[in-house]
Amino acid sequence: MQVLVTGGAGYIGSHSVLTLLENDYEVIVYDNLCNSSAESIERVKRLTGKSVDFIEGDIRDKDKLREVFEHHNISVVIHFAALKAVGESTTIPLSYFQSNVHGTVCVLEVMKEFGVNNFIFSSSATVYGEENDVPYDENMKLGTPSSPYGANKVMVERILQDLAISDPQFRAVSLRYFNPIGAHESGEIGEDPSGIPNNLLPYVAQVAVGKRAKLNIFGGDYPTQDGSCERDYLHVMDLAEGHLAALEWLNKNESFRGVEAFNLGTGNGVSVFAIVKAFESATSKAIPFDVAPRRSGDLPAFWANANKANTQLNWQATRSLTQMMKDTWHWQSNNPNGYAK
Ligand SMILES: NC(=O)c1ccc[n+]([C@@H]2O[C@H](COP(=O)([O-])OP(=O)(O)OC[C@H]3O[C@@H](n4cnc5c(N)ncnc54)[C@H](O)[C@@H]3O)[C@@H](O)[C@H]2O)c1
Repeated sequence: MQVLVTGGAGYIGSHSVLTLLENDYEVIVYDNLCNSSAESIERVKRLTGKSVDFIEGDIRDKDKLREVFEHHNISVVIHFAALKAVGESTTIPLSYFQSNVHGTVCVLEVMKEFGVNNFIFSSSATVYGEENDVPYDENMKLGTPSSPYGANKVMVERILQDLAISDPQFRAVSLRYFNPIGAHESGEIGEDPSGIPNNLLPYVAQVAVGKRAKLNIFGGDYPTQDGSCERDYLHVMDLAEGHLAALEWLNKNESFRGVEAFNLGTGNGVSVFAIVKAFESATSKAIPFDVAPRRSGDLPAFWANANKANTQLNWQATRSLTQMMKDTWHWQSNNPNGYAK
């Protein structure tokens, strides 16, 4: 079965491609490398001993996408490609709507031209917005996220629903990720942010490796157990396996039509202070930090109700917080400059 993976050179994409290859899927990666390196795919090939067809291209380039569909027998698209920095999305919102909403529409249009009906979408917990109470579950109404990035995800979920109403053959799964961290246990692939990391764990890892002086913890006075924000962190390999589970769910449920959303999280909230402590004890590296003022748009705490993915996809996040920390450090210490030589 041939799977087209857009954004497959990126952080979650590369780990998912590895999992798909290990489970004997044929994978075509389509990525414009705006936030990644083709080296991740080279390493995935080495780790699995399998080949991957890699095409450098932008999802908004429909002619190039058409060529990919013409030359392969694609039956499903897993769509990771997107810009993903929440803060940046507030400064260049038009670029975010261009890439994340218009780009997704381009992919869906070309799929339709070629009669490909199966779509797995990288959504996010951010779609629950500020209106919903934790733990988030899939029956809740989509919220109003505070950032353009979050709005992009809500819009795409809405587009998928409208497309499913109009097209009785369309089958989509929206995977709402919580907070993926960690890296493949080999230390060969991992998260390689360009510039200053936006996410907590890459920042912590860069402090540990000496690239940054100290961590800023944004807000120590939230109404949480220790005053810092709480998030539902899951290992990126568990998340990768969630994509495999979604793909197998689509394969098994042949009569399914429409859109189904699943939360992919552990079901537990962990605070920023707890993450720092866990990283220090798993790696014996000290992480100096300052508590800085709150960042606008950050919610105090959220985590998943993951029951639906547990029961219907037969998927569960199994890797421990210690494993997440060890694997992050293994990747970062082996690759202090990421994929750059
Ligand atoms: N990392 C997270 O915490 C998180 C949480 C929730 C949802 N997501 C979503 O998961 C997906 C993957 O995230 P990630 O963390 O792996 O990010 P990433 O930046 O590492 O991967 C995204 C990939 O898409 C590519 N890309 C971006 N725009 C493109 C375009 N126009 N055409 C072709 N390729 C393009 C980038 O080069 C990159 O390789 C994204 O859709 C993101 O919004 C991520």
